[in-house]
This record gives sequence, C-alpha cells and structure tokens, in this order.
Amino acid sequence: MNAIRYFSKFGHSKQMAEAIEQIVGAKATTVAEPLGQPVEVLFLGAGLFLGKVNSAVTEFIGTLTPEMVQTVVLFGSSAIIDSPVPQMRKALEARGIKVCDKSFSCKGSMGPLHSGHPNAEDIEAFRTFAQSIIQR
Ligand SMILES: Cc1cc2nc3c(=O)[nH]c(=O)nc-3n(C[C@H](O)[C@H](O)[C@H](O)COP(=O)(O)O)c2cc1C
Repeated sequence: MNAIRYFSKFGHSKQMAEAIEQIVGAKATTVAEPLGQPVEVLFLGAGLFLGKVNSAVTEFIGTLTPEMVQTVVLFGSSAIIDSPVPQMRKALEARGIKVCDKSFSCKGSMGPLHSGHPNAEDIEAFRTFAQSIIQR
C-alpha cells in the first residue's frame, strides 16, 4: 500500500499530489490525515513560507516511524529557494526514516514571480517522475 500526503497553502502541492493519485494508487490527502496503517511508499509534498515548510508538515513527520513507512518520496514547489525538500529530508532522516534519493521540485508562483507555476509542463514532469519511482 502507498500513500500521498501534502500541505498546500495556495493549492500548488495539492495540485501536484492529485496529479499522481492514479500512478501511486492512493488518494492524496493533507498532512492532517494520519497514515493509519503501514505504507510502502509515502509521497510527501509541501511549499516554502518565509524559508520554512509549515509546522503541520514537521508535526506530521513527527508521527512517522520507520516501522510505519518503508520509503518517503519528497516533492514540493517554491519561488525563491531551490526546494522545500532538504528540510523535510532532514526531519525524516532524524527519525531514522528512509528517504528516497530522488525527489521532485519545481517553481511555485509567489504573486507575479513564476506566475502560473506549477504549470502543465511541471505537472507532466512530476507524473513522469512518480511513474519512474513506482516502476522501480
Ligand atoms: C507569503 C509567502 C511566503 C513565501 N515564502 C517563500 C520563501 O521563503 N521561499 C521560497 O522559495 N518560496 C516562498 N514562497 C513561495 C511558495 O513556496 C510557493 O508559492 C509554493 O508553490 C506554495 O506551495 P503550496 O501552494 O502547495 O503551499 C512564498 C509564498 C508566499 C505567498
């Protein structure tokens, strides 16, 4: 069984998460929803705000254990900094949870900056990425 969780203030991570539902074979829900049962691959995504991922994401990570999750695959979008992924990776690895060496990041609009992102091309690239992970 796989799972998808996200935190999304402007709908960017939500849009990304929902785009991979069929590929991953799981419904995308927010980090407010506990895993409930052990999963093989957990896709976890978020954006960045004032340089940080929202505390709801770190709180969710705090509920995870290596027994509950075999591998986490991280994704996200941001406007200024390269990616929200390193922060999430650090928090997960601190809990002894295996994080996939591959992750997906793209631009996420902030007002006029990177307007329209994630766009159709970003979403398609994310789908291709998710497919490559699931086929491994
Ligand atoms: C108030 C605000 C603060 C932001 N702060 C940052 C930031 O510090 N670094 C960054 O790279 N992007 C920043 N962004 C851009 C967001 O990370 C980007 O819009 C992201 O796609 C949001 O994803 P979400 O809609 O899934 O929450 C900010 C956006 C807003 C509106």
